[in-house]
Amino acid sequence: MSLIFEATRLGALELANRVVMSPMTRDRAGPGDVPNDLMVEYYRQRASAGLIVTEGAQPSRTGKGYWRTPGIHSQEQVDGWARVAEVVHAEGGRIVMQLMHVGRVAVLANRGFDAEVVAPSAIACPDKVPGPDGVPAACADPRALAAEELPALAEEFAQAARNARAAGIDGVELHCASGYLINQFLDRGSNRRADSFGGDGAGRARFPAMVTKALADAIGADRVGVRISPGNPYNAMDASDPAETFAPFLAAIDDLGCAYLHVANMNLPDFDTLAFLRANWSGAIITNNMLTLETAEALLADGAAEAVSFGRPFIANPDLVARFRAGTPLAKPDYTLLYTGEERGYTDYPTIAG
Ligand SMILES: Cc1cc2nc3c(=O)[nH]c(=O)nc-3n(C[C@H](O)[C@H](O)[C@H](O)COP(=O)(O)O)c2cc1C
Repeated sequence: MSLIFEATRLGALELANRVVMSPMTRDRAGPGDVPNDLMVEYYRQRASAGLIVTEGAQPSRTGKGYWRTPGIHSQEQVDGWARVAEVVHAEGGRIVMQLMHVGRVAVLANRGFDAEVVAPSAIACPDKVPGPDGVPAACADPRALAAEELPALAEEFAQAARNARAAGIDGVELHCASGYLINQFLDRGSNRRADSFGGDGAGRARFPAMVTKALADAIGADRVGVRISPGNPYNAMDASDPAETFAPFLAAIDDLGCAYLHVANMNLPDFDTLAFLRANWSGAIITNNMLTLETAEALLADGAAEAVSFGRPFIANPDLVARFRAGTPLAKPDYTLLYTGEERGYTDYPTIAG
């Protein structure tokens, strides 16, 4: 049998197979940023993945930047996620929640409430992101976080992780990729701090490592994953020297014993990301980006990663694992319905079983 269908263990997480559903923001949460019936059904349909990583969920109001993203800081949100966890577990699946704080990548009109915008430095994200109507809108000007505020902010993440566990979610994944808050600290372009949380790679990694440690202390490192995408310029990251940026961060968290490192591999022409990670990370690796069944199987067979993740293929193929097993061609998503359409383009994709 192909390795991809074999069970594995990532920290405390027991996976029935090595196909991971990559986190995808889909903008369907209900009022109060509470997971609703639609989201419960969406995740239930995809529970045959060895592990689901949820869409990014904000640990606080300040962490929200996109339209209708779910939170994990109110009791109503915890109750909503508990319904998601229950149905995924009932189908035999495992689910971890991605904790995503947008930092400076915030369009105020997307929030529906007042909250400030914070970042490592007072430098606005020059890129636009979709507003409530889907039309690209400017990001707000952020306030630079004071060093004295950072322990409390790390504790917000820790509380979000406890909330996720209280909801029955199996663990959390810290979003350190794609230009959001943690990545903003790591990146030399968005972190221009003159204090010990800025400067060289080790300084810029200090707050990201503080948050990772806070999560590990809160729920156990074996239930904490970390997501990175070295060399990814998304949301105006400098990203020019992945080794200088990520080696100190990995060095600072490697000893914690996290469940996994989840990499969106940018397939850079002059930087072998997976070789770099094997040299700088002693734990399990989930690799991602543009994988097919064939390329994913080859990576597992080569020992390049312990598991493989798929994003877009899960949108229109809720039973992706069954399709891989059967050799069924994959359905194509309707990309016009990624962030709109309620059940259309979300929960109405059929399985091969009908
Ligand atoms: C609609 C959509 C939303 C996404 N949202 C997130 C997110 O919330 N967090 C994250 O880490 N990555 C996010 N991603 C990136 C995916 O997790 C994944 O890395 C990317 O789609 C590449 O994998 P694929 O080629 O298998 O699709 C998103 C991707 C898509 C298509």
